[in-house]
Amino acid sequence: MSAPGREWWRDAVVYQVYVRSFASSGERGGGPGIGDLPGITSRLPYLRDLGVDAVWITPFYTSPQHDHGYDVADYLDVDRLFGTLDDADDLIARAHELGLRVIVDLVPNHTSDEHAWFRAALAAGPGSPERARYLFRDGRGADGSEPPNNWRSVFGGPAWTRVPDGQWYLHLFDTTQPDLDWRNPEIGDMFEAVLRFWLDRGADGFRVDVAHGLVKEASLRDQEMPPGTEGRDPNRVREESMVARTDFDEPMWDQPETHDVYRRWHRVLADYDGDRMDVAEAWARTPEAIAAYVRPDEMQQAFNFLWLLAGWSAQEFADVVTSTFAAMDPVGASPTWVLSNHDVVRHVTRYGGGAQGLARARAATLTMLALPGSSYHYQGEELGLEQVDVAPEDRQDPSWFRTGEVGRDGCRVPVPWSGDAPPYGFGPGTLQPWIPQPLDWAGLTVQAQTGVEGSTLELYRAALAARRELPAVDAVDVRVEADVLVVERGDVTVVLNCGTTEVPLPEGELLLASGPVDAAGGVAGSLPPDTAVWLRPAGRSR
Ligand code: NOJ
Repeated sequence: MSAPGREWWRDAVVYQVYVRSFASSGERGGGPGIGDLPGITSRLPYLRDLGVDAVWITPFYTSPQHDHGYDVADYLDVDRLFGTLDDADDLIARAHELGLRVIVDLVPNHTSDEHAWFRAALAAGPGSPERARYLFRDGRGADGSEPPNNWRSVFGGPAWTRVPDGQWYLHLFDTTQPDLDWRNPEIGDMFEAVLRFWLDRGADGFRVDVAHGLVKEASLRDQEMPPGTEGRDPNRVREESMVARTDFDEPMWDQPETHDVYRRWHRVLADYDGDRMDVAEAWARTPEAIAAYVRPDEMQQAFNFLWLLAGWSAQEFADVVTSTFAAMDPVGASPTWVLSNHDVVRHVTRYGGGAQGLARARAATLTMLALPGSSYHYQGEELGLEQVDVAPEDRQDPSWFRTGEVGRDGCRVPVPWSGDAPPYGFGPGTLQPWIPQPLDWAGLTVQAQTGVEGSTLELYRAALAARRELPAVDAVDVRVEADVLVVERGDVTVVLNCGTTEVPLPEGELLLASGPVDAAGGVAGSLPPDTAVWLRPAGRSR
């Protein structure tokens, strides 16, 4: 155990691997079209050389794959698509050999409808202990044909599905993902066993899926929507309320009892050596609500989605940095930063796409990498990948099937490693991956960018290496001048130009730039729009 304050996760660079889209050995159940655990293991040296500290791997448990593994049928085994438990052991062992930590993805809010518990619940009928593991209720209306409340699924449509005997079960996500009833002690016991199973196998931590959703308000009352939002998707309204910092009624999210679960897990992790950790995927609405998940006796980290939700604005970025530190300091937790993951539009595209989107994405990433705390990165962002416009017939996201709106498939297209045409070395041979890769990615492959000055991959490599030399600090000074963000981290100054005109730079040696900057003798005079730099007082070497 490290001294408090010195744990590895406090300032780690964590790389997110989306299992089915990272690399395929071609030798497991999915064949060369689907990424697998041996594929990941074979590419770990790439991640070590990139300079990351840890790898978070999305769920690889036995699953019918309706939500690509976030519908778990057996938490204690590996889906044959991806490999076996031996493959998982090999992956963890190889990662540790290379000095990389492994974070596995835990899905405690819901199981798959193919989990033995849910099958038993359906078979056992109303009022049974088997049903009490989930949230089964009678419907409303004279014949019970109306759902028990007005909650909507995050993936669209009602959050309730009726079973043949007339009862309904709650699923905040897909119909195939029934929510567990965390007020039932059996659930907590089961998950403690799951935690210990993976900790015993060497997992360094858990990314906790839907961490803010486990316990629901006991009454399961209706959600009250703000006036004027009738008929709108509550999830979208909620996201807007996060950005606008307005109130929002959410009996299904962020309930106080949820924190008891994480206190118990804290104690479980403390039984193990090596600073094991949990990181919460908690879409809590304010920095303070997020901070509650990382109180000293709860989780170690929580994703800071406010950074990802900020627009291209120096003021918005500054506000997030300031409010994040203000919320994290009182609980003694280190902040986290994230711009992309497998659920959101890739940040190059969010920032407008094309050359400008890429310039902004590189600048935002360079800025975030200079902030104290941990930095979470999604596979392919180091290649500057854009969101792919996936053809309707190729889409697989359950939210697409429930709403008819373009879902998350576009950020899940397999990584291009090498070569001039799909599958770009994703798997052996020429078999195409589970979702088509664009025909114009040849210039974006790892092979094409390696050693190429100015490539996004080389920028990430340089930034990850330089980050290790940054002064150790707990806080930063942040200010906004016109539309320029200035962050002082010890003697290193980070300047991000979100404006539309070139701006003068303070004097200093140019350590890193996210894009072309005129720097005679290593000193840059001015900073173009959509660009960030790290500067250090001239003549000061460390
Ligand atoms: C969040 C995960 O990141 C997402 O991919 C998944 O669909 C939902 N939780 C439901 O598990």
